[in-house]
Amino acid sequence: MRFNPLAAFVALGAFCISTTTAFPPYAPLGGLSARQLEEIVPTLDAKVPPPPPGPPSFTGAQLVDDKDHPWRAPRPGDQRGPCPGLNTLASHGYLPRNGVATPTQIIQAVQEGFNFDNLGARSAVYSALLVDGNVVTDLLSIGGKTRLTGANPPTPAIVGGLNNHRTFEGDVSLTRGDAFFGDNHSFNQTLWDQFVDFSNRFGNGFYNITVASELRFHRIQQSIAENPEFTMLGLRHLTAYGEAALPVNLFVDGRKTGSYKGQLDLESARSFFRDMRYPKGFFRAAQPGGGEGADVIFLAHPTSPGRNNGTVNSFVVDDSLGGILDPCKFYTEFVNTTVRGLYPSPTGVLRRNLDINLGFFYDTIASGLPDCPQVFPYGPV
Ligand code: HEM
Repeated sequence: MRFNPLAAFVALGAFCISTTTAFPPYAPLGGLSARQLEEIVPTLDAKVPPPPPGPPSFTGAQLVDDKDHPWRAPRPGDQRGPCPGLNTLASHGYLPRNGVATPTQIIQAVQEGFNFDNLGARSAVYSALLVDGNVVTDLLSIGGKTRLTGANPPTPAIVGGLNNHRTFEGDVSLTRGDAFFGDNHSFNQTLWDQFVDFSNRFGNGFYNITVASELRFHRIQQSIAENPEFTMLGLRHLTAYGEAALPVNLFVDGRKTGSYKGQLDLESARSFFRDMRYPKGFFRAAQPGGGEGADVIFLAHPTSPGRNNGTVNSFVVDDSLGGILDPCKFYTEFVNTTVRGLYPSPTGVLRRNLDINLGFFYDTIASGLPDCPQVFPYGPV
């Protein structure tokens, strides 16, 4: 037989990949085939997900830009993503500086570093873990490699995290571009200039609920007019409004009172959104909070869940995954369509951990919507 250098090279490559390339412990398993799961899951350090932490004992304003949490620029390999809150916490060491953390670490960090309320923190973290995290190792990357295209349910992520498009991350972000334009997670100067412009026009130089209402609506109109793949369904319909309120409640220094409350100055805003850094000497909010005001932002210019049809300006209403006006439908479809689409027939430790995390997520739904029944996509637990 003649020596074929190409075949030898390919064979050597395959050998190297199978023996030296470990599956990243934070990479999501959603969308992998049964065969891939059979190979990968036994190589992972499986954990039993612990119950989420409760609220801290002290929940007042407090210096968080302190000497125990110095800002450091991310090092090569450290992961950062679309969330300015989590990026800031990682760059100050409230989260592991490499940007990979457990749900427990994230809940504790957002509570300690921002006074994010316990319910909101649990709801965000378990929904994110279910679609973007590794439920076997109990790890989530706040950035990760971006998968820019995708159907719903998305195709396998392989190396993912919060950058994954159309899971938690979505279109119409205030300071990040739509995935269709190539970068859905980095600070976008053009969008920042627009953020400043709206804050000057509608908030006298501050970002507040009025600015949030106008800018949120404008970003939606912009995406409808420019992004043929614009999509805002289910979870994204809820988060698009909630995220516009977060800076008003959590990026404003907790010592501000009276007419300064709820008014975010633009230098501080830029510090969070662009530099992933607390403004110097920043105090966290004076009381636990999060997305308060999302309803006001929505009601200022109500837009139904929907999407473009493959061309610009082709918006169609699509409430198949629920939305802000029907959170129980959102929950039910999130579990039965989105999560089950990613994990159609899990077994063993994967099934166990999905059930546990789905239970943690349902607890957050039940506390606000007691009449919304729990759904069990894989049968009784
Ligand atoms: C509790 C866990 C959290 C998770 C899992 C999470 C996740 C995310 C994700 C995936 C996005 C991108 C969505 C998108 O715009 O496409 C995002 C955006 C955002 N997050 Fe977080 N986040 C968390 C906590 C926080 C906290 C504590 C804050 C503020 C203190 C925050 C502030 C924001 C803001 C303002 C945006 C919108 C960015 C923009 O539109 O440009 N988040 N978050």
